[in-house]
Amino acid sequence: MNGDLKERIEAIMTHYPTRRSAIMPALCLAQECGGPLRGEILKDIADMLEVPEIWVYEITTFYSMLNTEPVGKFHIQLCTNVSCLLSRSTPLLEHLKSRLQIGEGDTTPDGLYTLSTVECLGSCDTAPVLMVNEIYHENMSEERIDKLLDQLTPQSGE
Ligand code: FES
Repeated sequence: MNGDLKERIEAIMTHYPTRRSAIMPALCLAQECGGPLRGEILKDIADMLEVPEIWVYEITTFYSMLNTEPVGKFHIQLCTNVSCLLSRSTPLLEHLKSRLQIGEGDTTPDGLYTLSTVECLGSCDTAPVLMVNEIYHENMSEERIDKLLDQLTPQSGE
């Protein structure tokens, strides 16, 4: 863990009554600083927060917002849970695979896009829903996906 990340985690720990409460924000900071969240970084966070490493590992692998593998510049996460499923997320997944020429869980060879499926994103009333990095895109259709992908270029921001 680099010194800057260590300092930031130490600072964030002061905002919580117990060190263990800072696991989630510490993981978010570590991911923001480059991720992916695996190996030494999990052990370092556990040591800093004085918790068993398994606690850090469990949280990391539970939340889809935390990445244990490298992801592309644009991480597309399509919800495939019930409301989205009933609103055509399955054909949308096939459309994304076809447009990106990758499978679920894969990253394009240029490192630009990663395609994942996730459980409920908490926006069932606007299903089908996907996220690109931290931004929600709701009421999706094949046409809206095409427009979105056209905007996600190597030059565009996140
Ligand atoms: S089921 Fe997709 S947002 Fe809830």
